[in-house]
Amino acid sequence: MIIGIPKETFPGERRVALIPAVLPPLIKAGHQILVETGAGLSAGQTDHAYSEKGAEIAATRADVFARAEIVAQVRCLGANRDAGRSDLALFRPGQCVIGFADPLIAREETRLFAERKLNLFAMELIPRTTRAQVMDALSSMATFAGYKAVLIGASHLGKMFPMMMTAAGTLSAAKVFIVGAGVAGLQAIASARKLGAVVQAYDVRPAVREQIESLGAKFVELPLETAEAEGKGGYAKEQDESFLRRQREMMSKVLAESDLVITTAAIPGKKSPILVTRDMVAGMHPGSVIVDLAAERGGNCELTRADEVVEAGGVTILGPTNLPTTVPIHASQLYAKNVANVLLYVIKEGKVQNNAEDEIIRETLVTWDGAIVHPTLKDAPELAGAGRK
Ligand code: NAI
Repeated sequence: MIIGIPKETFPGERRVALIPAVLPPLIKAGHQILVETGAGLSAGQTDHAYSEKGAEIAATRADVFARAEIVAQVRCLGANRDAGRSDLALFRPGQCVIGFADPLIAREETRLFAERKLNLFAMELIPRTTRAQVMDALSSMATFAGYKAVLIGASHLGKMFPMMMTAAGTLSAAKVFIVGAGVAGLQAIASARKLGAVVQAYDVRPAVREQIESLGAKFVELPLETAEAEGKGGYAKEQDESFLRRQREMMSKVLAESDLVITTAAIPGKKSPILVTRDMVAGMHPGSVIVDLAAERGGNCELTRADEVVEAGGVTILGPTNLPTTVPIHASQLYAKNVANVLLYVIKEGKVQNNAEDEIIRETLVTWDGAIVHPTLKDAPELAGAGRK
């Protein structure tokens, strides 16, 4: 099949969906790769490098969309709501689209995919199972977010991370508190530890305690009932407001002692829970920093504003929403591997599969042949009127 790689159009996006290094198994499987000229440049990949691995370079974006049977993107419409609109005129009915599309939130764009008869596989819906691990782009990207959260937190903090003994006195190590120890949180713990900070972490899922400790951090004990914290596919369940209120009360003391707080608490497809209130920020010491990785979904801190720097009583609150793109070479390397694995998985005998009995396909396929087919979305009232299967 012809797989098209257009240049990303989301403002500031520097990743690319496939890099030359992942092309050989796709070409060996009989596919042709068509890359828009310059698509990989911001991720360190030249047209020449793609050509050397057997790809064809298309002079225009329109050419890629006109010829490709599958379009692979980092952010397709849904995850690129404004700039992605112009692709609607280029997509062809029956074309398959693979990329981040935010379908659980961007319902209107999901409807448009169905209306245009596009077959959409949303990368953020790859289930977190052992079998699908090699395709799990959310995990791949969260690794970069955790790492970068520590670096930007460190660069805003008026302190160094390691304990230093100097002739002029001893500097104590920075205290870092990570809330939510999933993929991003665990990477943040590891990165902060490597820089020499004293790290504590908390998660509603008790199962992660061992992982936190194995990275050299302290698990913060909050005597909360967490029996039902584990949801589907290793993700957390949504907690009710009374749980969150008690959690906030208990976390206030830890926050007040911390120099850098990194929040990562996420519930798939839902608004982020508020874990740090305005009052809790007021209780932190001036000069401390919060990096809120959940900013895109409203944030874990009440004062977070997406992609802005907020100052409140001497506390700096950062809400970066696209950290993986700040590491475009490595982020594209992992994302491309995930996408290549999806392509090799869903294309069988020259055809894109829609077999709903296969868990990976059922959970990832959003629209097919004019209908919304995803189990979570097909009965959503706001999508009524869009085709259903
Ligand atoms: P994940 O699902 O692996 O981890 C989230 C963790 O938060 C889970 O371990 C969960 O148990 C925990 N959690 C949920 N509710 C909690 C609560 N009330 N208290 C404490 N812990 C709680 O998610 P992942 O992949 O690590 O992503 C984390 C966050 O980072 C998400 O919000 C994601 O959207 C965001 N992210 C941000 C990026 C950025 O550039 N800002 C890039 C990639 C991810």
